[in-house]
Amino acid sequence: MADAQGFDIGLTNYGDRDFARFLRRSFARSTGLSAASLAKPIVGVAATPSDFNNCHRTMDELVAAVVRGITAAGALARVFPTVSLGEVFLEPTSLVYRNLMAMDTEEMVRAQPMDAVVLIGGCDKTVPAQLMGAVSADRPAIQLVTGPMMTGRHRGQRLGACTDCRSFWGKYRAGSIDKAEIDTVEGRLAVTAGTCAVMGTASTMACIAETLGMSLPGTAAIPAVHAARLVAAEETGRAAVGLIASGLRPSQIVTQKSIENALRVLMALGGSTNAVVHLTAIAGRCGVAIDFDRLNRISDETPVLVDLKPVGEGYMEDFYAAGGVGAVLRELKPLLHLDTIDVEGRSLGERLAEPIDWVDRNVVKPFDAPVSPVGGLVALRGSLAPAGAIFKRAAATPALFETEGRAIVFEDLADLAARIDDADLDVVAEDFLVLKNAGPHAAGMPEAGYLPIPKKLARQGVKDMVRISDARMSGTAFGTIVLHVAPESAIGGPLAAVRNGDRIRLSVSAKTIDLLVEPAEIARRLEGLAPPPIPKRGYRNLYRRSVLQAPQGCDFDFLAGAP
Ligand code: FES
Repeated sequence: MADAQGFDIGLTNYGDRDFARFLRRSFARSTGLSAASLAKPIVGVAATPSDFNNCHRTMDELVAAVVRGITAAGALARVFPTVSLGEVFLEPTSLVYRNLMAMDTEEMVRAQPMDAVVLIGGCDKTVPAQLMGAVSADRPAIQLVTGPMMTGRHRGQRLGACTDCRSFWGKYRAGSIDKAEIDTVEGRLAVTAGTCAVMGTASTMACIAETLGMSLPGTAAIPAVHAARLVAAEETGRAAVGLIASGLRPSQIVTQKSIENALRVLMALGGSTNAVVHLTAIAGRCGVAIDFDRLNRISDETPVLVDLKPVGEGYMEDFYAAGGVGAVLRELKPLLHLDTIDVEGRSLGERLAEPIDWVDRNVVKPFDAPVSPVGGLVALRGSLAPAGAIFKRAAATPALFETEGRAIVFEDLADLAARIDDADLDVVAEDFLVLKNAGPHAAGMPEAGYLPIPKKLARQGVKDMVRISDARMSGTAFGTIVLHVAPESAIGGPLAAVRNGDRIRLSVSAKTIDLLVEPAEIARRLEGLAPPPIPKRGYRNLYRRSVLQAPQGCDFDFLAGAP
């Protein structure tokens, strides 16, 4: 049934198609649908509410608004659940489950009868998981994000999760605020529904989804609790019905060109390092590779334009009021591919030809007076990271960019937790802190790359040090931090060879990270190292057998590549 629509799509296999259709219609009518409703095209709505996902607290009202738009446009909405990932409620770390959610999304979109789908996500891993699944299922799809939180207040200071979570925790560790104050701050950091209030991973991915063309223009930055968020939801429902008519599929929207546009925007946002992993995984699903040399060229050509935490000062509510992604795209216009198309079938050039009513230049800087003349992120390579590492120069300390230091090595997360605050730890501010065994295979690649400054140094006023690991870092964090070192130490990357006292050289200008040990000695140290045992059963077994390294987006080997 090539032209099947609605409930006739993908009939259940009973060996008798007419019976399968009869049975499906009968069961659908048990949900109270009229015969007239059964005849309509269907828009699936992938809903992801969860009491373990505070960032999706508004899901029910978003779903209702999406359904309103779908119904008004003449189609039938069918809401279905998928896995939901709340960043801080998952052990060992949410990235492990991103691919599970992507598989769930892909398979449920493909297996259930729908002409198009609305994907509602928000928290860090949910947006990339839904985009990965949508690209692989390649059924007409549109994404709606839950939107960012509003800020709170503490003693006259604006607070937003989670850059301020980290700065206040740093003050507490350094002894400059007491237990009573940190307990008070705990209740003032995340004060509304929505995703983290800064340009962290969730906000970066929302902006990337909009830039790719997979969500409606102007919707990425609308605060979760703003009425405009519900209007966007209703319009997303209408647009999904439009997708049925146009037949536009993700494979026509997510292309090499739109991915390059997304990389440009990532650089201009001073966005999250995690977005490199996620965008690589999304691109990989349509057979597009993100080459680190190309990434660095794009970074060197693209200024940081957005003055938001953790790179600058503002919060997502300011970005929305300032003009949002549309304002950034207009500044970047000469660098963008303007013939990419979005879910409405419009080219980026057409979109950007429309006037924008106002841009707050305190938040979105003009191209010729940027926050920084070069992009927020760079890839590093060298003898310590032959397959690459990621460095967020926009959130780092320039004085540490061209430095050489003594390695202070932590073998794994447990070792780090046990010794980082040891008063006897031999460490000075000029040392490089090195964490091993925190990559995808060893630990699920947690956001542990933001190693804490040893307490005794924090109390001396040390605010930043060079820190190196195969872990990730929260998009809301900051510091001179080398992340995603690949290959990871657990599978024999040179990081595994680093010993206390070795010298390491970082050069951001040359984009290198080198272990200053003879190659033969590195090879000798790596001899006989074995990866950790693979869990015997379940998803963890699948994950360990299949997960790729960070430069391949940590996707599963059997899911990467164009369908
Ligand atoms: Fe969900 Fe930050 S915890 S976006």
